[in-house]
Amino acid sequence: MSTLLRVENIDAFYGDFQAVQHASFDVEEYKIVSVIGTNGAGKTTLMKVIGGTLGARSGKVWFEDTDITGWPPHKIVDLGISQVPEGGMVFGRMSVKDNLIMGSYTPKARKGAKAALERVYELFPMLKEKADQASGSLSGGQRQMVAIGRALMSNPRLIFFDEISLGLAPTVIKDIYARIKQLNSEGITIILVEQDVKRSLRTCETAYVMLKGKVVLSGKSSDLTEEAVGKAYFGM
Ligand SMILES: Nc1ncnc2c1ncn2[C@@H]1O[C@H](COP(=O)(O)OP(=O)(O)OP(=O)(O)O)[C@@H](O)[C@H]1O
Ligand SMILES: [Mg+2]
Repeated sequence: MSTLLRVENIDAFYGDFQAVQHASFDVEEYKIVSVIGTNGAGKTTLMKVIGGTLGARSGKVWFEDTDITGWPPHKIVDLGISQVPEGGMVFGRMSVKDNLIMGSYTPKARKGAKAALERVYELFPMLKEKADQASGSLSGGQRQMVAIGRALMSNPRLIFFDEISLGLAPTVIKDIYARIKQLNSEGITIILVEQDVKRSLRTCETAYVMLKGKVVLSGKSSDLTEEAVGKAYFGM
């Protein structure tokens, strides 16, 4: 197995406040990795650094042999890293289709947009049925599917999902997780940012626990007990 993404000693700040401290983690290609942590642990901040929307004060991000530290978001997307951001960020007044098309805004993605859209419609037939409907008229779970579909529009090799299950009903969460596993089985590497310890450990191969900006525990999910992760999670 080769390492697809390597995050090395990232320090990230908002003004004087350090939200991420010396955080490191590796993601092997074709795996599902979770980043677990309570509110304010620094998970989203770390994802922003990887996606290029927030600069790191120090540390490096590698995608295979390419140092992508400080790259602008569109270049990172074109290289093959896509994200389903916290809260989905689906634009309610725009149609489902236009929201999806937004995922192919980069030069490379634009060329493959037609095929990518067909693939998204195949994966989520509901999105095809509602293609011309305003996204604001969809249910929370359906909006998350739009967000997943949009992330797929650039043909990514790696997708990170930032708390995709937040606020959704258990049956919807189950369905969304099944789709994530399906995408993984089709060759897409996954990073799952989650607060739910149980669900994360059940889904991923490797887990990283963050607390107050630091990675405080990591390991194969089969070696980690729910109790150990829970303790690290709450800093006990
Ligand atoms: N734009 C911002 N400006 C200032 N501080 C911020 C900003 N965004 C986040 N923070 C702070 O940085 C820390 C880490 O926040 P972050 O959003 O990364 O946490 P998180 O692990 O994603 O939490 P959650 O599970 O609630 O989404 C928190 O203390 C938060 O208050
Ligand atoms: Mg967050």
